[in-house]
Amino acid sequence: MRVLVTGSSGQIGTNLALRLQADGHSVFGVDKRQNTWTDDFPYLLQDLAGHYPSFPGGIGGVEYPEVDLVVHLAAHAKVHQLVRQPHRALENAIMTFNVLEYARRLSLPLIFSSTREVYGDVHRFEEYGEEAADFAYTESPYSASKIASEAFIYSYARCYGLSYLVFRFSNVYGRFDNDLRRMSRVLPLFIHQISRGEPITIYGGDEKVLDFTYVDDCVDGIARGIYALAEGRVANETINLAYGEGNTLVRAADLVGSELGTDPQVQFAPSLLGEVTRYVADIRKARDLLGWTPTTPLDGGIPKAVAWFRDWRAAHPEEDAPLLNADEDGVEHGFKQPAGAGA
Ligand SMILES: NC(=O)c1ccc[n+]([C@@H]2O[C@H](COP(=O)([O-])OP(=O)(O)OC[C@H]3O[C@@H](n4cnc5c(N)ncnc54)[C@H](O)[C@@H]3O)[C@@H](O)[C@H]2O)c1
Repeated sequence: MRVLVTGSSGQIGTNLALRLQADGHSVFGVDKRQNTWTDDFPYLLQDLAGHYPSFPGGIGGVEYPEVDLVVHLAAHAKVHQLVRQPHRALENAIMTFNVLEYARRLSLPLIFSSTREVYGDVHRFEEYGEEAADFAYTESPYSASKIASEAFIYSYARCYGLSYLVFRFSNVYGRFDNDLRRMSRVLPLFIHQISRGEPITIYGGDEKVLDFTYVDDCVDGIARGIYALAEGRVANETINLAYGEGNTLVRAADLVGSELGTDPQVQFAPSLLGEVTRYVADIRKARDLLGWTPTTPLDGGIPKAVAWFRDWRAAHPEEDAPLLNADEDGVEHGFKQPAGAGA
């Protein structure tokens, strides 16, 4: 297959592109940033958030190579950053619109990367079945951008016959997630700080429970979705992809500490505005529709994540330095990085 991956310089995009290539498919990436981990697949540098006139062969007047399916991952994906800079949430919706117009023109099936954030801070539910999402509980501009994107996709399916799968991810970790000056995701941030003997801050207290997904499980779910959608076996479904188990951030920090052979110094702080404080995915639909079963629980994934991080650091010792806060484009702001849990 020929697959277009937007957001191909990001964590999931990089892992997915390499996995698809290893499976024998050809990948064409689009991202506004260079890939800092690999140049093993071709990609185009392009800002997907422009207000472009529609163009059949690609977005923004650029002719893309012919593809069979689109995986749309490009987004501003930092929950708390989008509370501070909500225009980036609007850009997320514009990117989805541009990708949808492109898919509509060429009748391409689309896979979209949504998030558990669309459920809001769901202390309201015992279980998180896909139908439980409700826009009245939108927690943050980031959630709003993903709810809006989902709504656009559902409307394109009804009005223009778009064939799609929407995946809702949760705290993906494990490889190509260490660009902390850009993203500061919670687990690589813990690994960075604990390995340097620095204290970590857990926002939301010792009861904050999240569903961490090892990146190979996530990518395997997307790959199964690609094949099922391309073959017409599964279409027009919204599916949670996570491990399906809750872990406190305290346990996550302890697991990182024991892998690094040190006791983490933990500070607690109130939850950051817009962040979810409890989520455990219901993953039965992914099992039933895609035959997908995640294989890496947190205590199996953290050793792999720490090993990958250590190997990368050994080759890039200059990254072993204190972090200042930075926006997504790497502009530092001179105050301490908040350890937001992300999406
Ligand atoms: N990683 C997670 O835990 C997680 C959880 C839930 C949802 N998601 C969603 O999955 C997708 C992939 O996540 P990720 O972790 O790989 O994020 P990421 O930030 O590592 O990758 C997203 C990529 O999109 C690119 N991008 C942003 N704005 C762009 C623009 N205007 N034009 C072109 N490219 C642009 C970024 O440069 C980045 O490389 C995102 O949509 C994110 O919201 C991720």
